[in-house]
Amino acid sequence: MDDLRYKENLKKKIAKLKKEKKAVIIVHNYQRDEIQDIADISGDSLALSQAAVRADAEVIVFCGVDFMAESASILNPDKIVLLPVKEAGCPMADMVTIERLREKKKQHSGAAVVCYVNTSAEIKAESDICCTSSNAIQVVKSLKDHKEIIFIPDKNLGRYVQDNVPEKKIILWEGFCPTHIRVSKEEVLRTKELHPDAEILTHPECNPDVISVSDHICSTGGMFKYVKSSKAKSFIIVTESGMLYGLKKANPEKNFYVPTERLVCPTMKLTTLGWVAHSLESMEHQIKITGEIRENSYKSLERMLKVSGEKSGAAISGV
Ligand code: 13P
Ligand code: SF4
Repeated sequence: MDDLRYKENLKKKIAKLKKEKKAVIIVHNYQRDEIQDIADISGDSLALSQAAVRADAEVIVFCGVDFMAESASILNPDKIVLLPVKEAGCPMADMVTIERLREKKKQHSGAAVVCYVNTSAEIKAESDICCTSSNAIQVVKSLKDHKEIIFIPDKNLGRYVQDNVPEKKIILWEGFCPTHIRVSKEEVLRTKELHPDAEILTHPECNPDVISVSDHICSTGGMFKYVKSSKAKSFIIVTESGMLYGLKKANPEKNFYVPTERLVCPTMKLTTLGWVAHSLESMEHQIKITGEIRENSYKSLERMLKVSGEKSGAAISGV
């Protein structure tokens, strides 16, 4: 069977299973093209957390990486949350441990802890408030009673926030995204030379020198919004290359370029149609956050959603 027919058959199988299991498929913007095609909802980390809250389904199939599925479980304690590939993790999220975070908190006892959504449930539970790349500045500004902020784990996003909120003192963590740091300023400028009319849209997980030559810094969802409203016809997209498929689909009349072929997140690409079908069939791998970690990580996420104008609506005991 050729590849196209194989994929079409799998898509039909997934559609049937989805109906049977009353499932919804939530997909991050970096996923493979064929996974984006089967999405009920796709978007950036913030949009997907908000979508998980509203999801009218018994089962959430989360096509992304583990911390995203964990957040969906924290916000939806009564739903089954499936991560099709157990190994789909985020190396940046693994760059912070509970012991080292507690140590840092001791060193800066008056500081608030803002954790990027790219962290485990355990780390969220130990933090004051969560943020994503689309609301990090807003979240830090919202902490009126705190001048000092421990920002974990992404040093690049932390630096970007510091530049935009000079009235706060951001204490950085030595974490980074191994995918976004692969692109250099020279590669971006070379691409600009080839496409001088193109606007440069960059994710804040990139290195500061890349950010410094960019026109617009935003989350993946922010890039979709920006491209829609911009009069420009061409864009250099400085983030994971999975973005190009969705951008091209939504804006067929516009042109998109990547500065390097190396902008690929290996764990985001682990999810395939075969694994999604298997996940719905076997109801594996269920992600469930319970107990005190769920209660405390819920508070971090709930605070963030309030700052972004959305209440989770999910009930948790004792809060
Ligand atoms: P956003 O889609 O929220 O911009 O996140 C990017 C990312 O790296 C997710 O892992
Ligand atoms: Fe983690 Fe970077 Fe991959 Fe996002 S792109 S999941 S931050 S490694």
